[in-house]
Amino acid sequence: MNAHNKPNAPVLDSYWMPFTANRQFKAAPRLLAAAEGMHYTSVDGRTVLDGTAGLWCVNAGHGRRQIAAAVERQLSTMDFAPSFQMGHPIAFDFAERLAEIAPGPAGAKLDRVFFTGSGSESVDTALKMALAYQRSIGQGTRTRLIGRERGYHGVGFGGISVGGIVNNRRVFPQLPGSDHLRHTHDPAKNAFVKGQPEHGAELADDLERLVALHGAETIAACIVEPVAGSTGVLIPPKGYLERLRAICDKHGILLIFDEVITGFGRLGAAFATDYFGVTPDIVTTAKGLTNGAIPMGAVFASRKVHDALMHGPEGQIELFHGYTYSGHPAACAAGIATLDIYRDEGLMTRAAEIEGDWHEAMHSMKGLPHVIDIRTIGLIAGIELQSRDGAPGARAYDVFVDCFERGLLIRVTGDIIAFSPPLIAEKQHFGEIVSILADALKRVK
Ligand SMILES: Cc1ncc(COP(=O)(O)O)c(C=O)c1O
Repeated sequence: MNAHNKPNAPVLDSYWMPFTANRQFKAAPRLLAAAEGMHYTSVDGRTVLDGTAGLWCVNAGHGRRQIAAAVERQLSTMDFAPSFQMGHPIAFDFAERLAEIAPGPAGAKLDRVFFTGSGSESVDTALKMALAYQRSIGQGTRTRLIGRERGYHGVGFGGISVGGIVNNRRVFPQLPGSDHLRHTHDPAKNAFVKGQPEHGAELADDLERLVALHGAETIAACIVEPVAGSTGVLIPPKGYLERLRAICDKHGILLIFDEVITGFGRLGAAFATDYFGVTPDIVTTAKGLTNGAIPMGAVFASRKVHDALMHGPEGQIELFHGYTYSGHPAACAAGIATLDIYRDEGLMTRAAEIEGDWHEAMHSMKGLPHVIDIRTIGLIAGIELQSRDGAPGARAYDVFVDCFERGLLIRVTGDIIAFSPPLIAEKQHFGEIVSILADALKRVK
């Protein structure tokens, strides 16, 4: 099968696409061929505004030559080097650069950095670090991992065990003992809110329920996304994260923030940890780490977690964990060039400067057909549509296809539209997003 039946379009049969309705897609493919700044170009030559920074990752916009040049230089100097019992300077250099901006307050930053190849790998790494930490401090009975309903933590077995999206879980077995907090979404009390909703801090007490049910001495860690993205933009109620931190402290439970989408400027601070002023023990990242240019993740651990494992005979490997591509030289080169761009262009804090215009533009869509909620924080928006009877997700999918045809890339999950444009976006782009989406909402059945 050939896309669009055009002479130079690709054959589509062999590629088994991820998180895609393969047969539906291949019958009517949407193919991107090039990208620059805020825009993609489709294979049929149309310009498409990127409302989603790719997949929440191209924070500095597309086609950054500085990153391409750094990767090219590194690949022609040293393409690959093993990271097990061996090292190469650029991985250490990148970790030092990350340590300077690491999440957490000065003097207590999570400045010990473990490299992975993706967000899913970062999550599984963080969960294993938590288990290893508990064991190393004599708390080996703590093997239970707590996530949250509607959470998304990638697709590894660890990540789906603590994740709370049913379609990612129903076919696959999960880690024994994993359990979940209630989610924080409460549209009856918190609809059409800019920033953090007022109601729901007490939902953090659900961790007390799980402690009462399982016993604190069985729980190693609790992982949450500070702002849940993939489940359709769920923003933490005021006081919720603070309360979760306090309950974890009370019971000796490590707190992990999954910052795979919130890391690197999405909210207007380098990390959600800094934005909310709540410091977990471990932070997972990926995506914006390299501006999406080369796959890579990084896990930031506190000194407490890291140092607890630096015991025993010096010749002993402290954490039996790592990936062939941990600290890949080309990924590190991309990451350093990305950090340079973020610093030079002030992108880590730019969302704070433009979020007023963003919130206003997004909330101007209140009252359009099918819109039942709009929620915004930093440079993120979630627009929830009323589902069609008996066909959840169908309406938002139709809107997605319509927008793409008219030059706007949006992301949908169920009947929620999620926006996360590159952090270089200008006010005029917000207007364009509203105009194309509003038309699509008026057209859709
Ligand atoms: C919060 C969160 N964690 C983990 C992941 C998984 O990242 P990856 O797709 O790079 O494995 C994602 C991806 O969207 C995410 O949003």
